[in-house]
Amino acid sequence: MKDFNIAVIPGDGIGKEVVSEAVRVLETAAELHGGLTFHFTHYPWNCDYYLEHGVMMPEDGLDRLKTHDAIFLGAVGDPNKVPDHISLWGLLIHIRRSFEQVVNIRPAKHIKGVRSPLRDPKDFDFIVVRENSEGEYSESGGRIHQGGDQIAVQNAVFTKKGTRRAMDYAFMLAEKRRRHVTSATKSNGIVHSMPFWDEVFQETAQDYPHINTRKVHIDALAAFLVSQPEAFDVIVASNLFGDILTDIGAAIMGSIGIAPSANINLNGKYPSMFEPVHGSAPDIAGKGIANPIGQMWTAKMMLDHFGENELGDQLLSAMESVLESGIKTPDLGGKATTKEVTEAVISKLKNSF
Ligand code: NAD
Ligand code: IPM
Ligand code: MN
Repeated sequence: MKDFNIAVIPGDGIGKEVVSEAVRVLETAAELHGGLTFHFTHYPWNCDYYLEHGVMMPEDGLDRLKTHDAIFLGAVGDPNKVPDHISLWGLLIHIRRSFEQVVNIRPAKHIKGVRSPLRDPKDFDFIVVRENSEGEYSESGGRIHQGGDQIAVQNAVFTKKGTRRAMDYAFMLAEKRRRHVTSATKSNGIVHSMPFWDEVFQETAQDYPHINTRKVHIDALAAFLVSQPEAFDVIVASNLFGDILTDIGAAIMGSIGIAPSANINLNGKYPSMFEPVHGSAPDIAGKGIANPIGQMWTAKMMLDHFGENELGDQLLSAMESVLESGIKTPDLGGKATTKEVTEAVISKLKNSF
C-alpha cells in the first residue's frame, strides 16, 4: 500500500468548486486502484482568510505544508475584495518561491471531442517548461517618484543557474518525447536579458547533441502556436513569456478551463504544487458551471509525479471520453454543470477498471 499526504488549498472563487470535484475523482481513483491511499488535509487559506486574519496564511503555514508529499491548489485571487498583489504574493507566489518550485510544466494538446477555435487543428501536443522563480517576475523593482514624475520599474533578473536548470529540464523532457526543444526568445537586441538567455540555451544544447533545437522570437512564437501548433514539442520560456504562451496553449485546446500545470521542486527539499492554468474566474464563481477538467488533469499530473502514470493515463482517458461524449461545461459550448462532468468522469473511470 502506498500512502500520499496531500495538502489541499482550494483558494478562491471557482478554485473551491473544482478542487472538491477533483478530490472526489482522486478518491475514486485510489479506491479502484486498490494499492493507494491519499490523505487529504484541507487548508482554508484564501482572500476570506485574509479579511479575517490580515494574512493569506498563518505564520507556520509553510511548515505545515512542508510535511506533505504534494500541494493541490485551486486558484488564488478575489480582486474585488483583496488586491491581487496581496493575495498572490501572500500565498501562490510565496509557496512557489519558498518551496523552490523552479519550473512550471504546462502541457497543451488537441483533445478529441473538444472544438478548438483553430480552423484545422492538427494533432498538436506540446509542453511549455516555464522558468518559475525569476526573470520578469523578479522582486527587484518598484515605484519611484522623481521630480513630481512617477516611474514604475521592473527588473528582469536572469541567473545562469536559474536559466540553466529550466533548460536542462526541457532537454531531459524532450529526450522522453519527440526530441525537439524550442526556445522562446526576444534576442533581437532590444530586451537586454535575452541574448544571455540565448547563450545559455546554446550552451545547454551542446550537452544534448541528439536533441534538435530551434529559437523563435516570442511574438512570432505566439503566432505560430495559433497557425501551426503541431510544429512544437517542448518549449522553454521565461516566466512571463511562459505565462502568456500557456494561456494561448489553453485557448487553442478549447478553453482555459481544461489546461493543467505543475510547479516542480527539483531538489527534493520541498513538495511540488499542482494547480491548473486558470484563475479563480470571479465572473462565473458560484454558478456551478466551472469546468473541472483543468483541475482533474492537474490531478493526473500529480499522479504522474507520484509515479502512478498508469492511473494518470486512465484518468486522462476517462476525461477525454466524457468530453467526446458531449458532456461539457458552457465554456466548451456544452450545457453540463461542474458536478455533472465530475459524475461522468467518475463513471467512465469506474468502467475502465
Ligand atoms: P481567469 O483564468 O480566472 O479567468 C479568465 C476567463 O476564463 C474568465 O472569463 C473565466 O470565466 C474563464 N475561466 C477560467 N477558468 C475557467 C473554468 N475552469 N471553467 C470555465 N471558465 C473558466 O483569469 P483572470 O480573470 O485574469 O483572473 C481572475 C483572478 O484569478 C485574479 O485574481 C487573478 O490574479 C487570479 N489568477 C490566479 C491564478 C492562480 O491562482 N494560479 C491563475 C490566474 C489568475
Ligand atoms: C498563472 C497565473 C499567475 C502567474 C499569477 C496569478 C501570478 O497567471 O499561474 O499562470 O502569472 O504565474
Ligand atoms: Mn497565467
